[in-house]
Amino acid sequence: MQKAILDIDPGIDDALALILALSSPELELVGVTTVAGNTVLEKTSLNARRILEYVGRGGIPVYAGASKPLARPLSTAEHFHGSDGLGDAEIPMPQEPPRPEGIRFLAETVKKYPREVTVIATGPLTNLALAFTLYPGTAELVKSVFIMGGAYLLTPHGHGNVTPLSEFNIYTDPEAAEIVFNSGVPLTCVGLDVTTNPSAKMDRKRYAEMNALKGRKAELASKVARYQIERFGEVEVHDPMAVAAALKPELFNMVEMKVQVLRNNDASRGATVAVKPGEGERGNAKVCVDVDSGEFWRLLISRLSQP
Ligand code: BDR
Ligand code: CA
Repeated sequence: MQKAILDIDPGIDDALALILALSSPELELVGVTTVAGNTVLEKTSLNARRILEYVGRGGIPVYAGASKPLARPLSTAEHFHGSDGLGDAEIPMPQEPPRPEGIRFLAETVKKYPREVTVIATGPLTNLALAFTLYPGTAELVKSVFIMGGAYLLTPHGHGNVTPLSEFNIYTDPEAAEIVFNSGVPLTCVGLDVTTNPSAKMDRKRYAEMNALKGRKAELASKVARYQIERFGEVEVHDPMAVAAALKPELFNMVEMKVQVLRNNDASRGATVAVKPGEGERGNAKVCVDVDSGEFWRLLISRLSQP
């Protein structure tokens, strides 16, 4: 079993990612850290607690991390995730509040279990960047990091979703992303190149299949996903795919790349430029360029249907 921390900004697809992680015997979820992104930190932190308590896993601690990007104002995405960030599905408020000091929790947990903790980050990378800079030595002690982030122009789907070049999580905090990409940590990137592959999306048929499943996890997944299905006719399952890459890397085709994050204040803000390493050079990330969508969906559905 792999010790894991989920670093998230729930977020409809973050909720699906958290439920998938909770249902996966391969992972021991030692805690959840939250970050401002899809909505403000207060809401992402409450949402993480709402999800855990809804599915009877309130014993897993939630620690609130950064409330804003390192160097820029926060711009959120409630138009996509509902005013509460969880699809306005009236998920009950939690009994227990989130705890403070998410960045310290990240650093201390990694130090407590050197090279044993995998971090799966599905929001802006602010918490990881702060943990790496405020607590020197942290990056060296992390086993690996899986991120949902980036648009690498490596497949026909790998273009941006905020600007033509930039994906939301990287665009929101490019300074943080740059720190993580340059940290030397073993990094796997699940970006829009794979998450927006049409064959991987949740369409109405897949939603109906999920909606028909029994149990609290599937019920919660259906409740939160309904918001996007009703408005857009589909759900892009970005964040669960990052969890799937940690669980079953064999479902993905990955290439080692040298990735540079652009931090300019122009149309290139948050772009992730991926170049093949030259002879004798190493990359700084494995970038997913293909996914077995059918197997990914079988995995998600089978895990969501667990009690
Ligand atoms: C990412 O942006 C957020 O809105 C989603 O939760 C996902 O992490 C996709 O670009
Ligand atoms: Ca997210």
